[in-house]
Amino acid sequence: MCGIVGYIGNNDSKEILLKGLEKLEYRGYDSAGIAVLNESKVQVFKEKGRIADLRNTVDFDVLAHVGIGHTRWATHGVPSTVNAHPHQSTSGRFTLVHNGVIENYESLKREYLQGVSFISDTDTEVIVQLIGLFAGEGLATDEAFRKTLTLLKGSYALALLDEQDNETIYVAKNKSPLLVGLGETFNVVASDAMAMIQVTDQYVELMDKELVIVKEDKVVIQNLNGEIITRDPYTAELDASDIEKGTYPHYMLKEIDEQPLVMRKIIQNYQDDQGNLTIDQEIIDAMNDADRIYIIAAGTSYHAGLVGKQFIEKMAKIPVEVHISSEFGYNMPLLPEKPLFIFISQSGETADSRAVLVKVKEMGYKAITITNVPGSTLSREADYTLLLHAGPEIAVASTKAYTAQLAVLVILAEVTAKRRGMKLGLDLVHELGIIANAMEVLCNEKEEFESIAREFLTVTRNAFFIGRGLDFYVGLEGALKLKEISYIQAEGFAGGELKHGTIALIEEGTPVIALATQESVNLGIRGNVQEVAARGAYACIISMKGLEAEGDTFVIPEVHDLLTPLISVIPLQLISYYAALHRDCDVDKPRNLAKSVTVE
Ligand code: F6R
Repeated sequence: MCGIVGYIGNNDSKEILLKGLEKLEYRGYDSAGIAVLNESKVQVFKEKGRIADLRNTVDFDVLAHVGIGHTRWATHGVPSTVNAHPHQSTSGRFTLVHNGVIENYESLKREYLQGVSFISDTDTEVIVQLIGLFAGEGLATDEAFRKTLTLLKGSYALALLDEQDNETIYVAKNKSPLLVGLGETFNVVASDAMAMIQVTDQYVELMDKELVIVKEDKVVIQNLNGEIITRDPYTAELDASDIEKGTYPHYMLKEIDEQPLVMRKIIQNYQDDQGNLTIDQEIIDAMNDADRIYIIAAGTSYHAGLVGKQFIEKMAKIPVEVHISSEFGYNMPLLPEKPLFIFISQSGETADSRAVLVKVKEMGYKAITITNVPGSTLSREADYTLLLHAGPEIAVASTKAYTAQLAVLVILAEVTAKRRGMKLGLDLVHELGIIANAMEVLCNEKEEFESIAREFLTVTRNAFFIGRGLDFYVGLEGALKLKEISYIQAEGFAGGELKHGTIALIEEGTPVIALATQESVNLGIRGNVQEVAARGAYACIISMKGLEAEGDTFVIPEVHDLLTPLISVIPLQLISYYAALHRDCDVDKPRNLAKSVTVE
């Protein structure tokens, strides 16, 4: 959470910083700020709310060629202008932005900063006050910064200005992502290349516990002992147009519509010259050697994992467990002899998942990361990476990444199954092509989903999603989508489980959205719909062609039985979108959330 940017060069920094922060708003959007340094004076502008609110407070008259900026998702201290970054040392000499959480900030305060009066409730202010303290004791800025870094426990991406030196931004990171971007007459700092892709596509990755001196014409990377490290830049393969909304009112709608294209891109990227699906031999060997696979993920990615388990078990016949990453860290099951870990993460930065990855790597196990972001932390730190090729996902609610995760998981299952000599009787390339076409059909039915949302979800307080088998897992994802963007209290349940307690919640008019895409449980789920309808529920049935019954609310095109989650989720995404829209919610930036959850 939180995004940071920095600029040093021959242009005025303010507009570049603000534009960069706008691109990072997905990382947090409860307050924001920038600090700019002209000849000898730092000016700080901060505001509660969005970057647009911050922009209104910025004085564009004075030029400043150096600056840092921050968009916040509050961890320590409520969202407010005072707690917004940047924070300053008491003297005002040092100004700092921070992404991460300092776990020992209270003990550092007690040990080193007894006499200091703090202005904010943030852990960040402790860092900048420590730098001020050590500089006050006579250390040069880089030494004071380094000494402070050695005391910090936790995660941080930091950018620091020193009012006495308008030619440098000091940068460091540990566990939180941070890149330095290189230009001809400037250099930049960003949590994500997306923020600065407008000005450069050349980036240098920073590693944990590195301190970087960024000047207009050079970048020096050091470790905490002051030894210089050289590292080549890479080209960020991001198209600036990928991160624009274009004519769409919201990123979420654009990203839902991109799903057929993403499907086709995935097929292309995982095909060899003969048209067969292919995955790096080492990954398939690791899959084949495993006696049990552990899928670790959070939120929507966890829901993709639940479906992925079915793909791998049914196709490749390897047992799979799926775990929520924030639980797995301290509640690890008894592991077999040869476990293999698969981390699913759109962003590749989720701190809960990363904590597990670090742990299992320490235990000597192999890990695959399935992610949308090449070079992300989880990708770098796992043994192998499988990319989603979905393009940047900017709306906080994940849509195209979910279906891309399912597609990559089913390809992984298929290639592993073939390696294990299994005959599947399934032409997956063909079936995924059918999926892409079916997605297109559904994306062209927006009015239908808008009217379902209007009919079932405009005034309700709550809603339930029910299904059996694969439909149950898709229902969980549908409920998450609806609750996170429309604030309707929504839950997904296994159809057969209702009578064991949940059915008590059904009242006259309670919306129940039932999925019926699985032949083997079609009668069962329809029985469950009868049960809730008999108790007053207002049932919306989404079934699949071939399994439909009279009165079904919507019938999705027929696809392979195992692949239905790839398309049955689309009505749920669109219904959630329109429900949020009708309730005047901020679809792309729902309250209290951030896209990339980089704190545990
Ligand atoms: C929901 C959503 C979140 C993420 C979760 C994990 O729409 O986007 O639940 O799925 O925070 O994020 P990643 O996949 O980046 O690890």
